Amino acid sequence: MFVTMAVDHLLTSFILLLICNTGFSAEISVFVKTGDSVQLDIQTQELPEFDLLSWRNDKSVIIVRYIHESREVKLHSSYKDRVDFNDETFSLTLKNMQKTDTGFYTARTSGESENNIVTYRVSVIDAVDAPVLTVNSHWSSSDSCTVNFTCRAHDLMINSSYQNNRCSPEEVTSQINTLILDCSEESIICNHSNTVSWKIDRINITQLCGGFSAEISVFVKTGDSVQLDIQTQELPEFDLLSWTNDKSESIVRYISGTKEVKHHSSYKDRVYFNDETFSLTLKNMQKTDTGLYTARTRGESEKNIVTYRVSVIGES
Ligand SMILES: *[C@@H]1O[C@H](CO)[C@@H](O)[C@H](O)[C@H]1NC(C)=O
Ligand SMILES: *[C@@H]1O[C@H](CO)[C@@H](O)[C@H](O)[C@H]1NC(C)=O
Ligand SMILES: *[C@@H]1O[C@H](CO)[C@@H](O)[C@H](O)[C@H]1NC(C)=O
Ligand SMILES: *[C@@H]1O[C@H](CO)[C@@H](O)[C@H](O)[C@H]1NC(C)=O
Repeated sequence: MFVTMAVDHLLTSFILLLICNTGFSAEISVFVKTGDSVQLDIQTQELPEFDLLSWRNDKSVIIVRYIHESREVKLHSSYKDRVDFNDETFSLTLKNMQKTDTGFYTARTSGESENNIVTYRVSVIDAVDAPVLTVNSHWSSSDSCTVNFTCRAHDLMINSSYQNNRCSPEEVTSQINTLILDCSEESIICNHSNTVSWKIDRINITQLCGGFSAEISVFVKTGDSVQLDIQTQELPEFDLLSWTNDKSESIVRYISGTKEVKHHSSYKDRVYFNDETFSLTLKNMQKTDTGLYTARTRGESEKNIVTYRVSVIGES
């Protein structure tokens, strides 16, 4: 008889210990964005018989007490205005969470025994800063576009290059922050994220490289010269190469077969054309020369090689 009781007692203690242990280790991690609310559920349908149910934090503050018999709910004074307790489901909602609220939250019942029902590890984290994409250099023609750029956020940085409608996807992380870079035909996207938020910056490729907007901007002081290069080593096969302005005047025409160079009468004395590099130098620029200048080849097909948007600035 005595022996049986002792074993019984031992068994009960062991089972209690087991419940306590699993109770404690049944820790649920939750990440909350600063300022947001978080709802903590008791995660069980089968509570043991109890007189009192409480939610407490790891600073020994009892946030809420629920007395079973009277269905009375008592809130800790320091939490009064920022918690909701549901007396049906016993879930606790903490509102307007701040970083100082990071910590453990435990639901416990007291009756014939004390039981930890569930413990949450709550981490309150600020939303990420927006990343910033910057173009370091950008070169485009009618059929190709190269953009060298940098994405920065926090202490993370990615340098990369966009070519032939793509870039190599990259990812860097530091602690909980991740910076992911990806490109599509339409855009370069940089995504800065952590467990609670993400923000992106985007560069519109269509705008930067697309169609006839593949322009290089050049600023020239009145009276100065400007040299316009074709910006490529690989010209398509052609019979004729020309530089035209946006008034449809062919400033220079170069005939490939005879290596002949023809100048437009109105530009005769103020341009220089290099028949090795095909660059065009416009001299003594005036404000009326502001506009678009395009190099174009004609052969089996017609191609725009490069377009400059030249702005002539300053007093004459
Ligand atoms: C752009 O990046 C590529 C590849 O990283 C590099 O080879 C090239 O020199 C860069 N161009 C410019 C203009 O910085
Ligand atoms: C990116 O480029 C900048 C400027 O060229 C350089 O200072 C920086 O070290 C580079 N960062 C990485 C991660 O390559
Ligand atoms: C940014 O990254 C986060 C986390 O990886 C992801 O959930 C989100 O969908 C991404 N946003 C975009 C626009 O790709
Ligand atoms: C990029 O710019 C083009 C031209 O302005 C516009 O039509 C297109 O919708 C933009 N794309 C994105 C993804 O913003």
